[in-house]
Amino acid sequence: MYKIAVAGTGYVGLVAGVCFAEVGHQVTCVDIDEKKVELMKKGISPIYEADLEGLMQKNYAEGRLNYTTDYKTTYKEADTIFIGVGTPEQADGSANLTYIATVARQIAETIERNCLVVVKSTVPVGTNDKVEQFIKDFLVNDVKVEVASNPEFLAQGTAVYDTLHAARVIIGTESKWAEEMLMKIYEPFNLPIVSVSRRSAEMIKYASNDFLALKISYMNDIANLCELVGADIQDVARGMSYDERIGRKFLNAGIGYGGSCFPKDTKALEYLAKQNSYELRTVKAAVDVNKDQKTMLYKKASRRLITFNDLKVAVLGLTFKPGTDDLREAPSLENIPLLLKQGAKIYAYDPVGIDNFKKRFPEGKGGQGTIKYVDSIEEALKGANVCFIFTEWNEIKAITPKKYKKFMRTPLVYDGRNIYNIKEMREAGVEYYSIGRPCAKFYKAVSKVTVTNN
Ligand code: UDX
Repeated sequence: MYKIAVAGTGYVGLVAGVCFAEVGHQVTCVDIDEKKVELMKKGISPIYEADLEGLMQKNYAEGRLNYTTDYKTTYKEADTIFIGVGTPEQADGSANLTYIATVARQIAETIERNCLVVVKSTVPVGTNDKVEQFIKDFLVNDVKVEVASNPEFLAQGTAVYDTLHAARVIIGTESKWAEEMLMKIYEPFNLPIVSVSRRSAEMIKYASNDFLALKISYMNDIANLCELVGADIQDVARGMSYDERIGRKFLNAGIGYGGSCFPKDTKALEYLAKQNSYELRTVKAAVDVNKDQKTMLYKKASRRLITFNDLKVAVLGLTFKPGTDDLREAPSLENIPLLLKQGAKIYAYDPVGIDNFKKRFPEGKGGQGTIKYVDSIEEALKGANVCFIFTEWNEIKAITPKKYKKFMRTPLVYDGRNIYNIKEMREAGVEYYSIGRPCAKFYKAVSKVTVTNN
């Protein structure tokens, strides 16, 4: 078992630290925020993530996991230091490496024994070479230090599960010593390990994320065409999914991908290509499609309604996906300002995202409209003129078509996640628009149902 230090307690660092402790390593998580460290010692997770607090409490109680702001003592004693700090996107699309550099320098100035530094954060190809050089430049003691790449593939909401049951572990090393050490660290996980060079490991992370983003944008592109030609994207996806070369997953059309990875990593790879005088046309296309997709529903609704001014608009779901309170690049962030600008009276519901959303859009007046946050879906729907669904939370999926008809003033629903069966919505008397599927239109006046391609 190894003595592992983890720098950074965000999604990547904290989850990795907890999982390393869970398989038996001795782990200390380092963060600069005292308050956060105190909370974590009490078993409170700074991030909303299923299963995390339980494992934090268990491993802390059993003495395998600790938290500290004292990086000096921690790095000095560690066999391995994993870096899991953020690499946020900068205005030009490149990754900000300031936090990585800070940790690298701290490591160089404190380590007193041979140490493997493992970068888990997503970094542009070639960064690990630079980190190694940087550490060597600032190294105070005469010890052996090497940098390895070990990119992270967890998805928010299922982070612990994804780490303990990862499809693969990628390790990028430049020496047998580093490779063997990482292999041993991951041995107790009993997962397939792919050992490659450092640069290839860095690229695998971007190539994987961008491929998934591309897959989603491709389905969204096809979905938009389906609407025009009268096909149904869900049937199309189902038909495609039987081909193992295509696969079943990530074929869901919707209002575009969000989150902390796909938007950032697509732009970062495009930037890297540009720096090397290459244009990555496929990734560029994925980014372009995604940009338009985010406001697709708003545009559809704008064509249907004369104005949003003074209309009660129910918004169901604010986070970029279910299972997280993260709002990064969430479609709600693009659509709500448009609705407010048009004078909408928004009633927004989300099971966990409201507190974060309030920080961006405080309750009350906004633009020409207003926003109010409600605790129940019914409250949002009651008397509403139109409803937008932005996140497929289970609570939202559980609302039956009949309830929209019952609670809303006009049962007009724009669903960005294709939650409902069109026939059931139509039978319940809901005018229902989704992505890449026919619209279920209910004409009250003639009390008959027509299906159009809107
Ligand atoms: C993603 C990757 O899955 C993960 O491997 C990587 O480490 C980080 O980025 P995450 O951003 O947490 O994880 O969520 P994910 O479930 O992949 O969804 C990303 C976005 O794509 C969400 O906005 C989701 O709604 C959207 N999506 C996903 C679709 O629109 N359609 C799909 O079929 C799948």
